Amino acid sequence: MRNKWWKNAVVYQIYPKSFQDSNGDGFGDLPGVISRLDYLKMLGIDVIWMSPVFDSPQDDNGYDVRDYRKIYEKFGTNEDMERLIAEAHERGIKVVLDLVVNHTSDEHAWFVESRKSKDNPYSDFYIWKDPKEDKGLPNNWGSNFCGSAWEYCEERDQYYLHFYGKRQPDLNWENPNMRQGVYDLMNFWMEKGADGWRMDVIASISKDQDFPDYPEEPGREYYTGKYHSNGPRLHEFIQEMNREVMAKYDCMTVGEAPGSTPEVAGLFTAPERNELDMIFTFEHMNIDRIPGSVNRKWALKPFDLVELKRVMSDWQTKLYGKGWNALYFENHDQPRVISRWGNDREYREVCAKAYATVLHGMQGTPYIYQGEEIGMTNVHFDLADYEDIEVRNAYQELVVKGKTISEEEFLKAVWNKSRDNARTPMQWDDTEQAGFTVGTPWFKLNDRYREINVKRALADPDSVFYYYRKLIRLRHEEPLLTEGEYVLVLEQDPHIFAYLRRSESETWLVAANLSEERLPADTLAQYAGERPEFLISNYGRGEMNGELRPYEAFIARVR
Ligand code: NOJ
Repeated sequence: MRNKWWKNAVVYQIYPKSFQDSNGDGFGDLPGVISRLDYLKMLGIDVIWMSPVFDSPQDDNGYDVRDYRKIYEKFGTNEDMERLIAEAHERGIKVVLDLVVNHTSDEHAWFVESRKSKDNPYSDFYIWKDPKEDKGLPNNWGSNFCGSAWEYCEERDQYYLHFYGKRQPDLNWENPNMRQGVYDLMNFWMEKGADGWRMDVIASISKDQDFPDYPEEPGREYYTGKYHSNGPRLHEFIQEMNREVMAKYDCMTVGEAPGSTPEVAGLFTAPERNELDMIFTFEHMNIDRIPGSVNRKWALKPFDLVELKRVMSDWQTKLYGKGWNALYFENHDQPRVISRWGNDREYREVCAKAYATVLHGMQGTPYIYQGEEIGMTNVHFDLADYEDIEVRNAYQELVVKGKTISEEEFLKAVWNKSRDNARTPMQWDDTEQAGFTVGTPWFKLNDRYREINVKRALADPDSVFYYYRKLIRLRHEEPLLTEGEYVLVLEQDPHIFAYLRRSESETWLVAANLSEERLPADTLAQYAGERPEFLISNYGRGEMNGELRPYEAFIARVR
C-alpha cells in the first residue's frame, strides 16, 4: 500500500564521497554518514537521498555502477548500508537510493559479456550499431560529456551508445531480460529496507529505435537534444517498473528528467498513471545559459529573475491538482545557488535564507543538498584542480580542440557553473580539513571553511541552519504549504519573487527581495493585508514598513 507521506517531507541529499570520512582515507563513507544522523535529525529532515553508493570504478563518481548489489569498498560494506538504513529508521528518517540504470560502468559484468560477441545472452543488453561505410559513426548523436555518443569496439566491430562518458555504456531497455535485471536489483535493496529511489536520467532510457540524425547546423559535429530523452516507450517502461517494484512498497520515487516540460511531468507524476511520485525539472536551472550554444552550459547568460519566476510558476500552476513537484536549487550537479544567482559575500546568510524561503514556500517536495543548509559557496580553483569528467572533457573539446571558447572565459564559467562547486567536502568545523577527514581529502576543500561550517552555524541562533530548521517545521505543521494553491504576484518585478499560497480558509504571502537593493515595498504591501502575521523572516521578527532590505524574505499569513 502506498500513501503519500512524501508530500510534506523534506529530503536531504548526501554526496557520500564528500560528506564525512570515518577512517582517514580521505573519502567520505557510510559509517561517516551514520555518525552524522543526529545532526540531520536536528535539522528535521525526513528523508536522505544517497547519491550512488554501489561498487564503481568512479569514472563519474559512482554514476557508473559496476555492481549494483555491492557497496563500493571505500564507502564500506553492505552491512554498513543496512546499519545506515536501520539507524536512520530509528530516528524516523527514510533512505532513498540512487538508481543509475540508463547506463552502467563498462566494468559491469553485463557489459563485459556484451562486448565479447553478438550472440551471447548479454549481447543485446546494450545498444550496439554497425558502423556506416568507412567505419563511420551510426549517427550524429553527441555525448552529454562532449564528443560523439558512440564508441567503437573491435571485438564486435560495432559501436556502442553512451549518452555520458565512454565508460558509461547505455543499457538497452528494449530487452525484457535486461529490464528484469534492473527490477531484481531494485527489489534487492527494497528488501533490505530502502525507502525508494532517485532515478538518474530516467527520461533517457527509451531511445527512438530509428536512431535518426539530428538536423545539421554549421560548425557542429555532434548533437544532444530531443532524441536524448522522452523516447517512445518511456512511460510504458516506468509503468512496468512500478508494477514490478514500487507498487509492492510504501516508497518514494523521484526521476531526474532533463528535457521535460510540465506536461511531461504530468505524465510521469499523475497518481492514476502509476509511474513516479515526482521528477526533477531542469528548466529553471537552464535559464542562465545561452540556448543552443556550442559551448553548452559554459555559455553564460545573465541571471534573469523574471524568467526564473516564469519557469518555476509554470511548473507550480500546471502541476497543481494533477501531479507533484520536486523543488531544488542545488544538488551534486549544480553550483551553489547563492554564488550563482545571489550574493555569497556581504549578504551570504540573508541571501541563502531568501532562496530557501522562495523554494520551501512552494508546492512540492523540497530537496536540500549537503552544505546548502549552512550557506556553502562556490570555489575558484585552478583548472588543474578540477576532478569532474564533465569539466575535463569540455576543456579538451571546446578550449583545446574546437577553440569555441577561450581558456579565460571557460575558467570563468567553471567557477560559476561547474559541478565540482558542490562536491568539495562538507565543512563541519574550523579545524584542518574542516572535520571532513583526518587524512588527505580526495578533493580540495573550499578555503572559506573556517568562516562557513556546521559548528559555527549551530552556535549561532540566527544561522542559515536554524532558518532551514524552522522552514522544515513549517512544512510539517502547516498543510497550506502542501496543499495550497499557488498564485504568482508582481510577475514583472525584476527583483522581488513573491507569491500567494491559498486555501479556502486562508492566504499566505511568500516574498523575497532577491537583490542587493533596498526596495520600496508598497507594491508588495497590497498583498500582505492590514496586519500580516509573520511566520518566518530573515531579518528578525519581520515587518512591512515600506521597504524591503537586501535579500529580505518572509512568509506571512495575510490578515
Ligand atoms: C545525472 C547525474 O546526476 C550526474 O551526476 C551524472 O554524471 C549523469 N546523470 C550520468 O549518470
